[in-house]
Amino acid sequence: MGGAKLREDDWQALVAAAILAPSSHNTQPWLFRPTRAGLDLLADERRALPVNDPDDRELTMSCGCALMNLRVAAAARGLTVDCSLLPDPTEPALLARLSLAAEHRPAPADADLAPAIATRRTCRRRFADRPVPAEVVARVVASARVEGTSLHPVTGEARRREIARLVGEGDAVQWADPSWRRELAAWMHPGRDGDGLALPTLATPLAQAVVRTFDMGGGVAARDRDLTVDSPLLAVLGTAGDTRRDWLLAGQALERVLLTARRLGLQASFLNQPVEVAALRPRLARAVPCEHPQILLRAGYPTGDIPPSPRRALDAVVLAARTRDEP
Ligand SMILES: Cc1cc2nc3c(=O)[nH]c(=O)nc-3n(C[C@H](O)[C@H](O)[C@H](O)COP(=O)(O)O)c2cc1C
Repeated sequence: MGGAKLREDDWQALVAAAILAPSSHNTQPWLFRPTRAGLDLLADERRALPVNDPDDRELTMSCGCALMNLRVAAAARGLTVDCSLLPDPTEPALLARLSLAAEHRPAPADADLAPAIATRRTCRRRFADRPVPAEVVARVVASARVEGTSLHPVTGEARRREIARLVGEGDAVQWADPSWRRELAAWMHPGRDGDGLALPTLATPLAQAVVRTFDMGGGVAARDRDLTVDSPLLAVLGTAGDTRRDWLLAGQALERVLLTARRLGLQASFLNQPVEVAALRPRLARAVPCEHPQILLRAGYPTGDIPPSPRRALDAVVLAARTRDEP
């Protein structure tokens, strides 16, 4: 690729945008390695969730979300991006290799999404009682197609109720499993830790003990069923295949969907239990219907400010630059 060489402040700005991506349990399972031509994105296996996500499907999707942010931030800086997925079978953790060049061309359309990177949040509260107009839904749906995936809005009372039932069943299965609760508790951290599901420092030990000890599946399921049925927009992101490459596509599509939605005034959150519980996933696929459901999300207009969740420092996620020249 031609163009001027990448400057250090370019890749630092790109990584700063990438780490604002969503990730399951806010594990932030990514690492970045500057290279001569650009940047490598690697999975950080130490941050896997073996109970919630035994195949690293959500881990890979989370990294795909970070990759989308890299691509958008590069566009906003007028950089052209050439991205190859899973480029080296001898290094399976290497998820994507980006070649970046300063071509000084007008910023491509993706640059319009850049301001949404810092204002997107997972909003688990109720949304404003205001429908999402059909043209907004159509633009969000179209954004998933750009990345080779499909977003299926769930419409009709009966289908919504069926999917809400699956969410409730998923909650019940997960909360009944002490190892799932232990894993969740292990990722409940004081906000200052820079990762995990942030809690006030003083409340953390008690909240962890409660989650580890009690099956709260009944109460959580009832709340989640209501949230599902009442979501202004309820939608399932699906892919044609179910390989690591598909999960990377799904992650990029998810972040494009979230940034597009944010640009149009929406926020979103996830009700991913029927995808995470293996026995429920085929039932969700039939209910939508779609080939391979990857995430169930709800979106709407937020009613107030949502505080940002913590992030790790840049130097914790950047590996030493690669010295040998890669292809
Ligand atoms: C693949 C994936 C799955 C997720 N699943 C859930 C979920 O089931 N429930 C939930 O409340 N949040 C879920 N999240 C949201 C994360 O908890 C959230 O991104 C993280 O806490 C960081 O917060 P932020 O998105 O506000 O930056 C998921 C995120 C990703 C990327």
